[in-house]
Amino acid sequence: MFNHLRDDFPTLSGEDPAVYLDNACMTLRPQPVIDAIRTYYEQSPGCGGRSVHRYANVVSRRMANCRKNLGELFNAYQTNEIVFTKNATHSLNQVAKGLSWNKGDIVLTTDREHNSNLVPWLQLEEEQGIDHRVVASNDDNTFNMENFEKACAEAGNKLKMVSVSHVGNLDGVATPVKEIAKVAKDHGALVCIDGAQSTPHMKVDVQDLGIDFMAFSIHKMMGPSGMGGLWGRMELLENMRSIQSGGSTVDTSNYDSLKWSPPPAKFEGGLGNYAGILGTDAAVDYLAKLDLDAIHEHEVKLNTKMTSILKDVDGLSIIGPQDAKQRGGICSIILENIDAHDVAILLDEAAGVMVRSGMHCVHSWFNAKGIERGSLRASAYLYNTEDEVKLFAETLVEAVEALG
Ligand SMILES: Cc1ncc(COP(=O)(O)O)c(C=O)c1O
Repeated sequence: MFNHLRDDFPTLSGEDPAVYLDNACMTLRPQPVIDAIRTYYEQSPGCGGRSVHRYANVVSRRMANCRKNLGELFNAYQTNEIVFTKNATHSLNQVAKGLSWNKGDIVLTTDREHNSNLVPWLQLEEEQGIDHRVVASNDDNTFNMENFEKACAEAGNKLKMVSVSHVGNLDGVATPVKEIAKVAKDHGALVCIDGAQSTPHMKVDVQDLGIDFMAFSIHKMMGPSGMGGLWGRMELLENMRSIQSGGSTVDTSNYDSLKWSPPPAKFEGGLGNYAGILGTDAAVDYLAKLDLDAIHEHEVKLNTKMTSILKDVDGLSIIGPQDAKQRGGICSIILENIDAHDVAILLDEAAGVMVRSGMHCVHSWFNAKGIERGSLRASAYLYNTEDEVKLFAETLVEAVEALG
C-alpha cells in the first residue's frame, strides 16, 4: 500500500535492502529528514530563538513552524503547549519531577509500562513518598477497566495522577485512553499518556482524548534520534517546575531573583538540538501528509500475516491478544527454550532481518511473569511489505525447529 514510498528511505533502496522490523525502537528516516539535518549544518548552523542574524532567523522560523505543525498534528489547544525535549523519557521525567507532590499522593500506572513511565514514579515513591500503584491488566494484556475503576475508588481523593501508555511497546496493545481519562477526571486526577508508540501509527487528538499531558518520541516518527516532545495543557505547564533551568528558561535574572519565561521556553533550557528540530519539522511534514488510519490498517495486515504463520508453532507463543488486530504492527514472541538474542542475531545473519530481542525496557512485566529470556519483537511500519514479514516469520519457524 505504501510501496511507492520505499524509495524515500535510503536504507531501503539498492540491490539487497535490509528487512527492518525494529520500528518500535526507532523508525527509518526518509530523505527529506536527512536533507533537513544536512541543510542545517551546511546552510544555517545558527542558534534558534536568541541571535538575530540570518542563520539564527532561519532556525527560529523553522522551530516555530515545527512547533505549529506538531500542535496541529495532535490538535493541541495552542502551539506553545508543545515543548521540545530529548525523547519521551525526558518528557515523562519533566511531568513526574516538575509537578508538586505530597506524601501519600497516589499515582496509577499499569503492569505493562515501559521503564520510562515506571521508573520516574518509582523514583518519586523512593524520594518523595508518593504511593505508586499498578493496575493489573487482563490475562491477554488488554486494559482491565474494572480493576482501574476499583483502584480509583480505593484511592479516593488521594488519586492525583493516572499515567498510562497509549499503545504498549511490549505487545502493541492500545489502552482506552478516552475512557480512562473520563474516570480519572471524575476522581479529580491528572492524566498523562505515554504516546511513544501511538503517535507514529494513529491519529492522536489530545483534546478529544481529554488528557493533560502526552510524551512522544520523534525518532519513532521518522524523525532524528535524540528528539522527543511533551504536550501539556497550558495552565498546567505554566504552573509546572522546569527540571532543566538556565539559558532561555527566564525572561530576566538578577543576583537574587528571576522571572521565568512562559512555556515552552521555560522547559527548553540550554542550546537546543537545532539540526534535530529542523529534521523533526521535515518528519512531521512527511507524516502529516500520510493517511494515519491507512498506516494502522497496513500494519495490522502485516501483523495478521506474521501471526498466521507463527501462532500454532510449537515452542513459541505470541504476547498479548492472539488477534493481530489488537496488536497494531507489533508481534512479540516468547521462545520457550531458545535465547531471543541468539535468534535475533541469526535472523540478521541468515536472512537480513532486523528485530529486537530482550525485555524491551518492560522488565517489570517479564519479572512478574518469571520470563527470564525476554522476547523477540518484530514491529512493522508503513514501508514494510508482506514479503518481508513472511520472510521474518518463516525464518523464525526454521530457527525454532533447528534450535529448539
Ligand atoms: C512505550 C514507550 N515509552 C517510552 C519509550 C521511551 O522513548 P524515548 O526513547 O523517546 O525516551 C519507548 C521507547 O521505546 C516506548 O516504546
